[in-house]
Amino acid sequence: MSVDPMKVPQIKLNDGSTMPGIGMGTFGSDRFTAEQVSNAVFGAIKAGYRLFDCASCYGNEDQIGEVFQRAFKEGLCERKDLYIMSKVWNDKHREVEESCKKTIADLQCDYLDVYFIHWPFPNYHAPGCDVDSRNPDSKPFSVKEFMDTYQQIEKLVDEGLVKHIGISNMTIPKLEQVVKKFRIQPTVCELELHPCFQQQELFDYLVAHKIQPVGFMPLGSPQRPERDIVAEDIADMKTPEMQEIAQKYGVHPAIICLKWAVQRGQIPIPFSVHEAEYVSNLESTQTPPLDEEDMKKIAGLEKNNRLVKGQVFLWPGASDWHDLWDEEGVIVDCPDAE
Ligand SMILES: NC(=O)c1ccc[n+]([C@@H]2O[C@H](COP(=O)([O-])OP(=O)(O)OC[C@H]3O[C@@H](n4cnc5c(N)ncnc54)[C@H](OP(=O)(O)O)[C@@H]3O)[C@@H](O)[C@H]2O)c1
Repeated sequence: MSVDPMKVPQIKLNDGSTMPGIGMGTFGSDRFTAEQVSNAVFGAIKAGYRLFDCASCYGNEDQIGEVFQRAFKEGLCERKDLYIMSKVWNDKHREVEESCKKTIADLQCDYLDVYFIHWPFPNYHAPGCDVDSRNPDSKPFSVKEFMDTYQQIEKLVDEGLVKHIGISNMTIPKLEQVVKKFRIQPTVCELELHPCFQQQELFDYLVAHKIQPVGFMPLGSPQRPERDIVAEDIADMKTPEMQEIAQKYGVHPAIICLKWAVQRGQIPIPFSVHEAEYVSNLESTQTPPLDEEDMKKIAGLEKNNRLVKGQVFLWPGASDWHDLWDEEGVIVDCPDAE
């Protein structure tokens, strides 16, 4: 029930380094406790996972740090074998170094392989709050403020606390405003990617700019928080096409989602606290690829099925969550776009 980490696909990044081609998510979705998640991380290390996607706002970095230490002490791996990613939360965009140092202390990992700007808005909302709650201090995206946050992470790279920079929940119009301003290029971008939400244009933009897409919610996040569920959402793994392809290969549709993701060129970071699931998710990289016809069938499943709408980040005056995603090709309400 384990995979040799050396046999997990490795992805080459724009600075010549490599990272594992699949990882484990650690967001408990308000349903799984920090203990459940950290136990799964320990099991996942034993199973052969080396890439872990953490974040301060997931509220479990200190427990995950404990299990990293346990894994080192038990000789399962060394720090250098792990690829640890974390993210600065929206309320710490002006105190990035402090937040990063807290994360490194909690994760007990000396440095981070990737530090992300989790969201491009500096908008705080209380953890677990209702989707209709609004913070009167929320602001739209600002190029100057985003670059200020980004430059604080560039400094952390200079200081050796962070190896690579990541961006997350971006759009092409936002990227267009900042992509030429980076001193140190980001190596990865996290974005929501699953069969019914493929973000093809953004995906192609990232690839063209040599920024590796990391796909979050790769299974369509069936356990996402209640607040992120609306009636129109489609359950990717329950579509007849995914069921049919899964049946053909004799596996769960989750495995088809992951094989499709890896073959398409994104790095999926599926989450599970169940050993049988997280082991089979990693093992999905060890079996023959999906055939071309099935890849085409899944490409045809695009349904603009965005699950994380981000309502809580809306600023006063914004109309609805569509404003966060710049769907008309310009950044909505940006005070300083060029
Ligand atoms: N950058 C960002 O803003 C951002 C946003 C969201 C998420 N993320 C990251 O992405 C990670 C993954 O997203 P996610 O956890 O929301 O969604 P996901 O990985 O798409 O779905 C996870 C759920 O799928 C089920 N599952 C997992 N493996 C399975 C298998 N082999 N067979 C059947 N069911 C399986 C589990 O549900 P059951 O427990 O019911 O089996 C699990 O709770 C997060 O943990 C987080 O690290 C990042």
